[in-house]
Amino acid sequence: MSRSKAVAILGSTGSIGRNTLDVIGRDPGMEVVALSAQSNVALLAEQCLAFKPRYAAIADPALAGELRGRLEANGAGSEVLAGPAALVEIASLTEADTIMAAIVGAAGLESTLAGIRAGKKVLLANKESLVMAGDLCMAAARESGALLIPVDSEHNAIFQCLPACGSALGPEQTRHVAKLVLTCSGGPFLRAPAEAFAEITPEQAVAHPKWSMGAKISVDSATLMNKGLEVIEACCLFAMPPEKVEVIIHPQSIVHSMVYYEDGSVLAQLGEPDMRIPIAGALGWPERMPSGADLLKLAEEEPLAFLPPDFDRFPCLGLALTAARQRGLAPVALNAANEVAVAAFLAGNLPFTRIAALIEAVSVKMPNREADTLDIILETDALARVYAKELI
Ligand SMILES: NC(=O)c1ccc[n+]([C@@H]2O[C@H](COP(=O)([O-])OP(=O)(O)OC[C@H]3O[C@@H](n4cnc5c(N)ncnc54)[C@H](OP(=O)(O)O)[C@@H]3O)[C@@H](O)[C@H]2O)c1
Repeated sequence: MSRSKAVAILGSTGSIGRNTLDVIGRDPGMEVVALSAQSNVALLAEQCLAFKPRYAAIADPALAGELRGRLEANGAGSEVLAGPAALVEIASLTEADTIMAAIVGAAGLESTLAGIRAGKKVLLANKESLVMAGDLCMAAARESGALLIPVDSEHNAIFQCLPACGSALGPEQTRHVAKLVLTCSGGPFLRAPAEAFAEITPEQAVAHPKWSMGAKISVDSATLMNKGLEVIEACCLFAMPPEKVEVIIHPQSIVHSMVYYEDGSVLAQLGEPDMRIPIAGALGWPERMPSGADLLKLAEEEPLAFLPPDFDRFPCLGLALTAARQRGLAPVALNAANEVAVAAFLAGNLPFTRIAALIEAVSVKMPNREADTLDIILETDALARVYAKELI
């Protein structure tokens, strides 16, 4: 595997997608082969004009005509593909050596898996793919020779602190690792008293103090579910048991995660809280490339602090750690219930404090067994969503 040259971006209109295009735009040697969106036709058409991809995929088929019209009008010349199958198609294109998996939520699973099965260099932002189908994804990568490079800043930090690998991540890389430590900013409510949580509004929850991200992951960061999902992701990616993956609050978001080795050495990756850094690291791997991010000025930063998470005020973290230990379909149910709860919260139909209660109620109701086929995973996802919606 080498530095990316021809990239297909799944979810190009989102926060990660836009940052990816910003990084690619700085490198004349990199080409964009395909872009995709769910419904943001206007931005997708604009991106096509700027990057001239061969394909533009719109997941909502009802919007294909509008996209075609815009692309004809602006002269971008991209071929329009439509519907969820189009996402799988662009993830498997022979013209692309690299897939950026940046769709949000379970909707990204099938295209991520398609990119892995096609043996691509898969830059993985869509953590929900690994939460739902970690074993399937890792097994598929071993079989196809795909290289998974995590884009989540924490996992990308760990990837950088582990010995280099040429193909899928595996246990040989973590042979001398004592534990992984995922840092967590603590989100906007790190210091808010428990009594204030019932009044939290969607606007407050999406206003992250350090990172600018899409709405769903911002709410996950506010409940700390994001960190819980990341523990599950880390266990899959790095073949570590959950008891060897620790979470530590680090409000400055300068240290992006750490690897503790058995000899007492601790390796960490530091940088500005700017997603273009892990994105450039993943696109450029095994080389480095400019990201556009500022260089850290450590002497001007406030002192770096580290503290343990508060499981009482942030019960979603505990629920996710339980699912990580249970494995099988438990993370699938957790993820589905969380997606429904977060969407209801953002729509004003569920108080912030009911998010964890809803996820727990669904998790208890769902039977657990091995998550060994895509069908059983998708069925479980659908059933957990039905239960969650009934409870709202
Ligand atoms: N943002 C970050 O800094 C960050 C950091 C680490 C990890 N991540 C992970 O990266 C992923 C993307 O996050 P984000 O913040 O970039 O999300 P986002 O800003 O909400 O963007 C999501 C993208 O996915 C598309 N999309 C949404 N639903 C879809 C569906 N059903 N089918 C096909 N495409 C769909 C959206 O298209 P439209 O624009 O048309 O809706 C958009 O392009 C998430 O898994 C998140 O956990 C994000």
